[in-house]
Amino acid sequence: MENLNRIGLDIKVSKKLANDLNELLADYSTFYQNVRGYHWNIKGEDFFVLHTKFEELYDDLVVKIDDIAERILTLGYSPNHRYTDYAKQSKVKESSEVSSGKKAVEELLEAFQVILLKQREILEEASEAGDEGTSALMSDYIREQEKLVWMYSAHVNK
Ligand SMILES: [Fe+2]
Repeated sequence: MENLNRIGLDIKVSKKLANDLNELLADYSTFYQNVRGYHWNIKGEDFFVLHTKFEELYDDLVVKIDDIAERILTLGYSPNHRYTDYAKQSKVKESSEVSSGKKAVEELLEAFQVILLKQREILEEASEAGDEGTSALMSDYIREQEKLVWMYSAHVNK
């Protein structure tokens, strides 16, 4: 039992999962800030639709950011909260002043791909470790975001 943490998961595996979740947290944090930028800077005929949709999206991302951070704590580790850590770890690239709706959606689709790949990796590791809590979180996110990818792709006719 010495190798198990308080929730009965292998300590070493939980550490690896917490590290991966911290990387995912960095991706989400960059993505969140990018989407705020899209919401603010968007111009053109899609303004009212996209301005609203982007707000919906960042509101959802901020809830997930909190869930991911609290999952890391549940596993017994600390979530990163500093911008410097996020900048170092994020695989999602920082966006700068995008005002075209098409460009914003294209960037957002790229970010979803990065995040989906990472979440599938974490899902696999978590399943192997019997970590149902992390697995369930990842599969919920994957299912929701795959659907969003379909909808945003349809918006830009892809
Ligand atoms: Fe606003």
